[in-house]
Amino acid sequence: MRTDLAEHAAFGGVVPEVAARAHAVILDRVIGEALSRASVSPGDLDAIAAAAGPGLIGGVMVGLTTAKAMALAHKLHLIPINHLEGHALSARMTERVDFPFLLLLVSGGHTQLVLVDGVGRYRRLGTTIDDAAGEAFDKSAKLLGLGQPGGPCIEAAARNGRADRFRFPAPLAGRAGSDFSLSGMKTALRLAAEDLAAPTKRDVADLAASFQSAVARHLAGQTGKALERLADEGVAVGSLVAAGGVAANGAILAELSAIASDRGLALVVPPAKYCTDNGAMIAWAGAERLASGKTVSREEALAFAPRPRWPLADPIVGAEFGGGRKGPKA
Ligand code: KG4
Ligand code: ZN
Repeated sequence: MRTDLAEHAAFGGVVPEVAARAHAVILDRVIGEALSRASVSPGDLDAIAAAAGPGLIGGVMVGLTTAKAMALAHKLHLIPINHLEGHALSARMTERVDFPFLLLLVSGGHTQLVLVDGVGRYRRLGTTIDDAAGEAFDKSAKLLGLGQPGGPCIEAAARNGRADRFRFPAPLAGRAGSDFSLSGMKTALRLAAEDLAAPTKRDVADLAASFQSAVARHLAGQTGKALERLADEGVAVGSLVAAGGVAANGAILAELSAIASDRGLALVVPPAKYCTDNGAMIAWAGAERLASGKTVSREEALAFAPRPRWPLADPIVGAEFGGGRKGPKA
């Protein structure tokens, strides 16, 4: 299994069938290890939370079905969780972050601005109209002949580069709203690289630094517009939270920190292990739902079908605002 995964990882992608099989192979062991490290047995638990979407359906099905089996065997509550809700609430695991706050979620698959007004109360203020930020980093790293995942490789290459050497677009800057567009950055990078006959290491460093800085300015600029909109609406957010793998990027964090401090807000970034995809954030979201009574009934949870697509503003219960469809009642 490891060989399979290493092989596919080398191609910079996830093969859904291989990923689902890997889940099935290691899940029991991972759960066993988690329980033994916490010195608890399944019967000691109040509930079991599992990601029920969005995402590659094979892996989600394996996880949710295992959780259903455990809930049945040990008579536990089952709490299906939206993966994005895990990211949204993850900062509260390690820091005191009061509602409402603005979340910038930047990962390989998502680039979103979400007003988090409470558990189950989410309003999306912006999303990417083309590539996700992590995807743009990964594709651009490939174009520059750097490794995968692309984000850390671009950040490392950019460390020795000049960010002001190449000009990049400022997408959607003059327009209202706080959506993102990242595919133009990738095109600009390709055109700049093509202009150089045989790019040297120095050129690659400058290209990486210019690209990274343009992405950072774009993310921070659109985030600033969302904060302005909230201020205009009289919504007093206390912090800006950045989560997802791309939030590990120092240049992006520096731009976000400036945007936040301009407005007297704290910038909160969960530690990398909780910022990127992880099981603890799903358990945490389940605990938050359990504590606030925002859970579905046991019957509904056991019948819950995995959702390959599941916008965050479409929670299971309590679609108080955000245009979400009203889900089954608790
Ligand atoms: O949240 P994440 O670990 O997984 C999901 O996408 O679900 O995010 C992975 C993405 C990859 O595209 C990777 O290139 C990017 O996060 N990433 C970074 C950095 N570290 C990881 N992007 C920019 N700078 C980084 N330091
Ligand atoms: Zn994720």
